Amino acid sequence: MEQFVRDQIKAIKEQVGETDKVLLGLSGGVDSAVCAALISKAIPGRLICIFVDHGFMRKDEPREIEETFSKMDLTLVCVDAEKRFLDAVKGVTDPEQKRKIIGKEFIEVFNEEAAKFSDVKYLAQGTIYPDIVESGDGKKGVVKSHHNVGGLPEKIKFDGLVEPLKTLYKDEVRAVGRLLGLPKAIVNRQPFPGPGLAVRCIGELTKERLDILREADAIVREEIGRLRRKPNQYFAVLTDMKSVGVKNDERTYAYTVAIRAVSTVNFMTAKCFPLSQIAIGRISKRITDEVEGINRVVLDVTDKPPATIEWE
Ligand code: XMP
Repeated sequence: MEQFVRDQIKAIKEQVGETDKVLLGLSGGVDSAVCAALISKAIPGRLICIFVDHGFMRKDEPREIEETFSKMDLTLVCVDAEKRFLDAVKGVTDPEQKRKIIGKEFIEVFNEEAAKFSDVKYLAQGTIYPDIVESGDGKKGVVKSHHNVGGLPEKIKFDGLVEPLKTLYKDEVRAVGRLLGLPKAIVNRQPFPGPGLAVRCIGELTKERLDILREADAIVREEIGRLRRKPNQYFAVLTDMKSVGVKNDERTYAYTVAIRAVSTVNFMTAKCFPLSQIAIGRISKRITDEVEGINRVVLDVTDKPPATIEWE
């Protein structure tokens, strides 16, 4: 990994040259964070990080991202594009459609922001090896068009792409992050897909449904986060199914939320994580007590394959 970091720093310097600037999209995930650290080390002062808040971020995440990255040696731009993205996906329920629209919109916001920096020549991305494999190589069928591969338009207005992590698996990306001295909170952060909660909110994407999911997801992460032995990835999924329940002797008709928790080494395959009944019970009680709009909690017990980790 030391050699990898040295090689990549050299390669980035050679590709970008002495004066050009690089633009990077911060998603809030570990990949783009490590990518930012690596590139700013190679070309200090010449990396511009754009964080597009597409409205599909987890609870409190936009604020946390701003706090963390504004302390680093780079230029940070935060864009509030929630309304624009929600308008773009209005009425769309097909998973691949959602991914494609969000990916396209993301690049458009990017191009608009990039236009404000006339001297930016390169676009950097935190693409990692599984993103490329699972987006299809033309031989096998596409599993999912990943945000940072599928959404690229052909007439991109940059001289080139900087993708220093594209040969690495997730565990290797974390090792690079540790080597670069990134804080533990970032290096050990759970992976988060580019389209964010949009692929964990089955059915139509509305602010109201996303807010319900944000609250439920915060409880899942808080409760599982305090366990001594944790899954590698854990989150809530808001299904599009409503069912009948009862609260304070009144009938309810509300959404079902699913708990997803997996253990995995490289995210290409995964095992359902055996959460204790106590943890499951606590999560279920808290969600149904605290989150308006949910009256049923189920547990996803599927491995990958046959399921994928994300539901869409
Ligand atoms: P799946 O659902 O394909 O997910 O089993 C494997 C891992 O990849 C993450 N994931 C994404 N990461 N852009 C990303 O950067 C994406 O579009 C994307 N979709 C899924 C997922 O969270 C899991 O860790």
